[in-house]
Amino acid sequence: MKLIAGPSSPLLTKRVAKRTGLEIAGVTYRKFPDGEIYVRVDDPEDESFAVINSMRSADDLIYLMLILDALNGKRVFAIIPYMGYARQDRAFLSGEAVSIRAVARMIESSAERVFTVNIHSERAKGHFRKLRELDAMERIGEHYRGKDVIMLSPDRGSLERVRKAAEIAGCDFDYLEKRRIDAENVEITPKNLEIENREVVIIDDIISTGGTVVTAASQLSDRASRIEAACIHGVFAGNALNRLYTSGVSEVKATDTVESQVSIISVSDIISEVLLNEI
Ligand code: R5P
Repeated sequence: MKLIAGPSSPLLTKRVAKRTGLEIAGVTYRKFPDGEIYVRVDDPEDESFAVINSMRSADDLIYLMLILDALNGKRVFAIIPYMGYARQDRAFLSGEAVSIRAVARMIESSAERVFTVNIHSERAKGHFRKLRELDAMERIGEHYRGKDVIMLSPDRGSLERVRKAAEIAGCDFDYLEKRRIDAENVEITPKNLEIENREVVIIDDIISTGGTVVTAASQLSDRASRIEAACIHGVFAGNALNRLYTSGVSEVKATDTVESQVSIISVSDIISEVLLNEI
C-alpha cells in the first residue's frame, strides 16, 4: 500500500509515512486559470492506496473526489482526519441537502474503507456504511499530563469528551454553565469548581468561528490566572485565531487533523496504528 498526501494533509501524511514505513506516492496537483482543479497520480501501478486529506473546504472535497477517480479500480482507504460538511447531518428545513450524506455517498462509491477522527455527530456517522471513527481526545489528555490545569467543557453535552482527556491528564475537570443574571446578562461559570487563580483549558472538539470559546474566555479571564483553548479540529474560520487571542486566551492548541501553526498535537500514531492493522 502507498500513501497519498492530499493537499490539505501533507504534514500528517509525512508523519504517518514515517511511523508506518509506507511510501508516499507522487501526485501532481494543479489549478487551471479559471480555478478548476487537476489531479494526476504519477505512478498508479500499485494495487492499494491510502489517501489522507482533511475536508476543510469545498476545494478539499473536489481534490478528494478527483484523487479517488484517479485511483478508479484500485483498493483505496480514504482517511479524512477532519470530516467537514458534517454539521448539515439532516434536513433542518424541507428541501435542504443533507450535505454529509452526499459526501458519504461520493467517498463510499470509491473507497473500500473510510476513517475519520471525531466526527461531528452520531447522526453524521450514520450516513456512512464503511466508516471507522478514531478518537483523538486521549492525545489531548496526554499533552496536558502532569500539568496543574482545570479542563473545562463549554457545555454539559461535551463533558464526557473532556472527562476522558482529564482522566488521562490527571487533572480536574468541569463544564461551563450559563446562568441568567437578569434580562440582559448571562454569566458563564464552571458548574462545580472554583477557578480563581487557576490555569484553565477550555476543550472543544472543533473551534470554527471561535465564538464558543471567545464567549467563555471573556467571562473567565478576570478569575482564572491563565486561559488556554485546545481542540481536536482547529478549523479557525476567518480571523478566529485573532478573536481567540484578543478575548483573553493566552494559547490555542489543536491536533494536526487540520494543519495550521497551532496544530501541535499529532494524531499520526492513531492513524498509523489503524492503517497497519487494516491493510
Ligand atoms: C458544537 O457542536 C461544537 O462542539 C463546537 O462547540 C462548535 O462547533 C464550535 O464552533 P465555533 O468555534 O464556531 O463556536
